[in-house]
This record gives sequence, C-alpha cells and structure tokens, in this order.
Amino acid sequence: MIIDIGGGTTDIAVIALGGIVTSKNLRVAGDKFNQDIINYVRDEFKLLLGERTAEDLKIAIGSVAKGPQTMESSVRGRDLVTGLPREVIITDADVREAMAKSIRTIVDSTKEVIESTPPELVADIMHRGIFIAGGGSFLRGLDKVLEAETQIPVYIAEDPLTAVVRGCGIILEDIDGFREALVEHEDELPPT
Ligand SMILES: Nc1ncnc2c1ncn2[C@@H]1O[C@H](COP(=O)(O)OP(=O)(O)OP(=O)(O)O)[C@@H](O)[C@H]1O
Ligand SMILES: [Mg+2]
Repeated sequence: MIIDIGGGTTDIAVIALGGIVTSKNLRVAGDKFNQDIINYVRDEFKLLLGERTAEDLKIAIGSVAKGPQTMESSVRGRDLVTGLPREVIITDADVREAMAKSIRTIVDSTKEVIESTPPELVADIMHRGIFIAGGGSFLRGLDKVLEAETQIPVYIAEDPLTAVVRGCGIILEDIDGFREALVEHEDELPPT
C-alpha cells in the first residue's frame, strides 16, 4: 500500500500481483495545505500571506502531531485592515490547526481504501506496512498519526521526493515485464 502526497493530488493505492487492487485519488495535497495556511492566517491574524510564504512556513514548522517542543516562525504579509506589511509569529500548533481538516480527509480516505481491500491483502499490508512518498510525507508526525489511525506500520519511502520518478525509471528499464501492470484492461495493451 502506497500513499503519495504530492502538490496537487494525494494518490492512495493497494498494489498486488503487478496491478492496482484498490485506490483513491484526492485533490488534497501540498497546494491545499498552503491554501489552508493562507486561509487560517487571514482569518485568525487578519494578515494576507503569499503562496510562497505559506509553503515556506509549512516546510519549516509543518506537523501533523504535537512534537516534543514548540516550533515557531515569523512571517510577513499584508495587514488586511491597513493594507501595510506586518509580521506575526506563527507556531506549529497554528499550522496544525490550519491543515487539520485536510489531514483528516487523507486519513479517512486511507481507511476507506483499506476497508475496500480484500482481507487476505489487508493481512499482507499489516505485515509489510504502508509506504508514504511525495513531498507531503515530510510533514512531521504524519507516519505516526497514520499508524495510530490504521493500526498498520507506516514507513516513509527512501528519498520520498524522487520515489515516483525513480519508480518510473525502474519500469522503463523493463517495460515489457511491467506491461500488464501499466494498463487496466487487456485491450489497452499496445501491439508488441
Ligand atoms: N519538507 C516538507 N514538508 C512538507 N511539505 C513539503 C516538504 N517538502 C516539499 N513539500 C511539499 O510537497 C509538494 C511537492 O511534492 P511532490 O514533488 O511529491 O509533488 P508532485 O509530484 O510535483 O505533485 P503531484 O504528485 O500532485 O503531481 C509541495 O506541495 C511541497 O510544498
Ligand atoms: Mg507526484
């Protein structure tokens, strides 16, 4: 089972015998987290942040579970009342609250995918674990939260930002071997 949390989408899939068994794609991922942070800071601090500032904040102090110590970061934006620049201190708790709904969506969808997976395969997943990849897998504590919610071990893929492209490379090296895994229906197979 793989959860790839990218910029535009989160792709959740169970892969067995070279094919996707169950899956779900959500338009909730890194870009949505940035927007969540912008909305939260606008509502709570009356401050408008740029998309880039929100992303920097997410990378600097973004987390999904409370860590051993408080993290904070000062950000600059435009005061919605005066229209002038202003700086505020944002904490990890702020960022967590901002992203909470989106994270919930990802956790709930993960559970739905597990629920629609045949029991024998779930037993396999419990044994091998769930792998998370994509930039979103860097969010502090995400692995532990998913683990607690699914009761299945969760591992962060090695070098999660390049996991997908490296996987594509492996497939291209043996395109014939992976032929059947690449299409959903036999009639989609190109002629050999
Ligand atoms: N350390 C980090 N903490 C949190 N998020 C991060 C971190 N590093 C990168 N990201 C986020 O990961 C996202 C990019 O991830 P990735 O490169 O996997 O996406 P992508 O493959 O380009 O997008 P998609 O899969 O949706 O097409 C961006 O939203 C970025 O802000
Ligand atoms: Mg991607």
